[in-house]
Amino acid sequence: MISYNGHISYASAPAKIILFGEHFVVYEKPAILASIDKRVHIIVIKNDNENSIIINDRIFGKKYYPISVFADLERFSNDIYFPLLYTIKKNSAFKSNVGLEFTINSDIPYGMGLGSSAALSVATVACLSNIFKAIKKEKILELAIEAEKLVHKNSSGADCIVTTYGGLLLYQKKSFRKLESKRELSLFLIPTGIKHSTGELVDFVKKFKSSNLDNFHKLANASENITKRAIRAIKDGNEIMLGDLMNENQILLEKIGVSNLIIDKIIGLCYKYQALGSKITGAGGGGCVLALIKAEIKNSFMRNMEKEGFQCIPVELETDGLIY
Ligand code: MEV
Repeated sequence: MISYNGHISYASAPAKIILFGEHFVVYEKPAILASIDKRVHIIVIKNDNENSIIINDRIFGKKYYPISVFADLERFSNDIYFPLLYTIKKNSAFKSNVGLEFTINSDIPYGMGLGSSAALSVATVACLSNIFKAIKKEKILELAIEAEKLVHKNSSGADCIVTTYGGLLLYQKKSFRKLESKRELSLFLIPTGIKHSTGELVDFVKKFKSSNLDNFHKLANASENITKRAIRAIKDGNEIMLGDLMNENQILLEKIGVSNLIIDKIIGLCYKYQALGSKITGAGGGGCVLALIKAEIKNSFMRNMEKEGFQCIPVELETDGLIY
């Protein structure tokens, strides 16, 4: 626990990638996720002589909320910090006669499918737990998922799980287990430059499902099958197989309508420059493409993609998850 006299506390949580199974995980199919070495860091200072909530964020600037905000929080449901304010209100030990000042420093790009909002929710709940009343990781996770559901009510909870526990993991129906990869995977993120709203994309897929029930059922089963084969490929360190499975997974995501022209273009370039596999990671509709590359061609792949005008960010997996 990182807290000083109960007045200052720090927490940090990582970004994530989804290797297999996004969207179908909302309908209880398995997914494989990993936490990566980009983090949100939060410091909270409790100020007994103030009674306002101050949020300093490098990207979104400084915002003040009077403590009276909690009397009718629903009015702020479109505010960017609604989930954060909600987690404060839900903290059983929070009293309305204290002020809180948050400093948020994040190197997780926002709206790019890397789980920035889940990491922020988990780190916020953990920080508040340090300052008011210590709660266990499982409870932190539960509250963070509740806050995520304010942003998109059909959240599978997968993003919150991976940012809390860290590592490479298989997730299904609210439970997970860690996976070991036999070899280091050379993965790259290629940003489309288009920000997306996970909630809107999850709603879009929900509508697709209700008007294509049989088809969706088949696609969801195919996703499950791909994810199961991917578990074996990860264990065996079979990156050729893993790449093929990523390509198969991408086709399913195209079929449910979450790809777009720019994603298709990047995927085409990944084929051209000999990626073993490439796919959307996260909700799609923009965000990032994830590509698996043979280690030997890493540099030439990056050069070629950059020549085509696309940034290539090497992915480092991490195993710490939530630090608090
Ligand atoms: C978003 O990172 C992953 C989705 O599957 C939504 C969810 O699992 O809540 C698209």
